[in-house]
Amino acid sequence: MAGSWTLGHARIQMQHLSPIKLLRISRPTLYHLRRMASTQNQTAVFGLKDPSLIKFQGYIDGKWVDGSNGEKIVVRNPATQQELGSVPELGLEETRQAIEAASRAFPAWSRTTAKHRHDILMRFYQLMQEHHDDLGRLITLENGKPLAEGKGENSYAASFMEWYAEEAVRVYGEHIPSALPNSRNIVIKQPVGVVSIFTPWNFPSAMITRKLGAALAAGCTTVIKPPPETPFSSLALAELGRRAGVPDGVINIVTTQKNVLEVGKEMCENVSVRKISFTGSTPVAKLLYGMAASTLKKMSIEAGGNAPFIVFDDANIDEAVDAAILCKFRGSGQTCVCANRIFVHSSVYADFASKLAAKVALFKVGNGLEDGVTHGPLIHSRALSKVTRHVEDAISKGAQVLIGGRPLTDSPDDTFFLPTVLSDVPSTALINTEETFGPLAALTKFETEEEVIQMANNASVGLAGYFFSRDVGRVWRVAERLEVGMVGANTGIVSQAVIPFGGVKESGLGREGGPHGIDEYLNTKLIVFGGLGA
Ligand code: SIN
Repeated sequence: MAGSWTLGHARIQMQHLSPIKLLRISRPTLYHLRRMASTQNQTAVFGLKDPSLIKFQGYIDGKWVDGSNGEKIVVRNPATQQELGSVPELGLEETRQAIEAASRAFPAWSRTTAKHRHDILMRFYQLMQEHHDDLGRLITLENGKPLAEGKGENSYAASFMEWYAEEAVRVYGEHIPSALPNSRNIVIKQPVGVVSIFTPWNFPSAMITRKLGAALAAGCTTVIKPPPETPFSSLALAELGRRAGVPDGVINIVTTQKNVLEVGKEMCENVSVRKISFTGSTPVAKLLYGMAASTLKKMSIEAGGNAPFIVFDDANIDEAVDAAILCKFRGSGQTCVCANRIFVHSSVYADFASKLAAKVALFKVGNGLEDGVTHGPLIHSRALSKVTRHVEDAISKGAQVLIGGRPLTDSPDDTFFLPTVLSDVPSTALINTEETFGPLAALTKFETEEEVIQMANNASVGLAGYFFSRDVGRVWRVAERLEVGMVGANTGIVSQAVIPFGGVKESGLGREGGPHGIDEYLNTKLIVFGGLGA
């Protein structure tokens, strides 16, 4: 017998098995060998240094699982449409198993010391650093953002693990002087319990660690539903969590697409779940909020934004242009904190518009793995249709195209939209009321501070807002009056693990990150000690 044999294109080394032993291979072993061979074959597509980070199964109670129905979710690279692989279409049954596993794991995990959880989170952080190149590449492969941004996201994602490792050991209580004789009031913080986590595709890794880090630090256990477009980053994180020493059942991952309604409903309504953390669109946030109401669960929501970016007449225009580029075109405009409406004072409008268009002309759009590419595709052709609709709507109402203004090709499957700058966008344009989520900078002129504050606040959402001015009085006035959760004054980037990230109005509830983020995963308990005789 030859030293090796093939299954599909893969080769499994068999030299250690004699012919007699081969004949005796049991069905489960054969299944396992076949699976290994096919997995080796499939992981090659990703080109990672550590292919074992790629998992094609869900993760429940410390085990990699397939769905009972055998259905699959196919995941494609949005830049090339190449099939990357598939993950199982899990449903109600597996969701319940995941919640049960998280409930069983909760008592032991919640009673570990804060120092123990700190150490595990620090190991998790270090593993994310050690696998930086692989994790960055994985993000680029499934999301499409350029490799430098993919790696940047991995650093951002890992920073949440580091931050929450440090926060785990600083969950302090309080002593409140008593109003009653012979007694003392003590306040302690306790983990809320099982947490359901819903994450989006625009940050396949960072939106998980921002929630998971806080949940683990607080002593909660988790059931995560990653987006169907980018499940592999979440599964790689589960694998690193396992290597870091996170016990079975503390992290569970339910991959789903078609069954999302029943899975989501269960994750929101199951009585064992005590908290929900969601990042995604405002309509979906409202749906989940309604479901969570049946059992009054604690909820954090980071939903859509429609960020204003204001350039006053006293701004440093070159700095404002650079900031607008970062703020607007990061992730090809697919972030919730992207500038969506750019208001520029009439006296600096022409200068700002021409400088912005000139910089956008230097972008190189393409496959994020290729050298020199600065901007990748949109996640799918539906996303491209929305950007096209916004551009066509604005043009039909009088906007001018300074650069871009159309998809890269005429193909209906195209996912690349040319980075675009539109000027003279009227207040009636759709861009003013809907988040574009694409590479479209929409410029509108204004005359006075009062007028632009009204325009900026004329939105049902309020996540981030930015402005440029060198007048210290105006900086205070505008920062205080913008109806948003986060203000960038003379900067286009606010995101860091150390800040309280979140919005007002229909942009959400609660804060993630910073010293405030862990509170979302904790209950406050009062203990009154009476009869002290003193
Ligand atoms: C988001 O787009 O939801 C998050 C953006 C960020 O954290 O910077």
